[in-house]
Amino acid sequence: MRPQLASLLLLCACCVFAGPAWAAGEIVIKFSHVVAPDTPKGKAATYFKSLAEARTGGRVKVLVYPNSQLYKDKEELEALQLGAVQMLAPSLAKFGPLGLREFQAFDLPYLFDNLQQLHKVTQGPVGQQLLTKLEPRGIKGLAFWDNGFKSFTSNFPIHSPANLKGKKIRIQSSMVLAESMRAVNAVPQAMAFSEVGEALRAGVVDGTETDISNLYTSKAYLSQKHLTLTEHGYLGYAVIVNKAFWDDLPRDIRRTLETAMQEATRYEHQVALQAKDEALAKLRASGAIRITVPSAAERATFKRAMVPVHARLAGLIGKDVVQAIYKETGFKPN
Ligand code: LMR
Repeated sequence: MRPQLASLLLLCACCVFAGPAWAAGEIVIKFSHVVAPDTPKGKAATYFKSLAEARTGGRVKVLVYPNSQLYKDKEELEALQLGAVQMLAPSLAKFGPLGLREFQAFDLPYLFDNLQQLHKVTQGPVGQQLLTKLEPRGIKGLAFWDNGFKSFTSNFPIHSPANLKGKKIRIQSSMVLAESMRAVNAVPQAMAFSEVGEALRAGVVDGTETDISNLYTSKAYLSQKHLTLTEHGYLGYAVIVNKAFWDDLPRDIRRTLETAMQEATRYEHQVALQAKDEALAKLRASGAIRITVPSAAERATFKRAMVPVHARLAGLIGKDVVQAIYKETGFKPN
């Protein structure tokens, strides 16, 4: 057994023998995430903390751990299931390893044209049904948070999929993202978010597909010469808690936290809407990376190459979910 897993198990056993988290008085929620505090996710985690602590009169304490301080992508999900942390907001791409492939529908290229379309899914019945699929894994889904759309970074200009031939592009660990990279001739390299900056610096990968706020706040742009605004896919999150912990909370506290989460979610969506433009302005001002907006024809070439991934992987993701999303957004594959 890996040492990290062994210590998690020990911690979990201690939690069980100690009884419910709140029995001793103060309720502590450890909220772990992998990005910077000044991203939409980071800001909303801090906002949730302030609401939760103020509204419960200090009965709840929320400890936010950004930047993979506690755990990397995969470990944080294990830690949540074992009760070592209580709250996370992993990207939807990262639920695949739990056997929840439906969440990877959100990784399908060019699925959403804008965040309004996306919200029809995440804030409606399809999104709610997806969250219930977490429960058999000991996880309760509380909300969907946004980031935005992903684009390519590289050290070479990108105008068409031909420019990506044989190039190693970092992706999150998702079969849909891997297939999407292969569709544009690239070689997908899955790695944890915390490793991306170093991998780019060391030349282990040639580029990334990333949202703009993470690109700026992680400083990964300092190792890349080009940002090509293909906006070919969506990056967003599910805010999740350890289900046993949540169900054990006194009812009044749980209700207060649910309301705080709804408000934090509205705030997060607003922040995410502005984050791309703010980060783009800072990237431009830095002069460190050249930003290119593809022409309509270039964009069409990328779309033509990547959209066939929908048909290739719909069966593996779950045709029902993919069709339900198409129905909400009016997506047409052609
Ligand atoms: C990534 O791994 O690129 C993102 O999921 C990081 C994040 O949480 O925004």
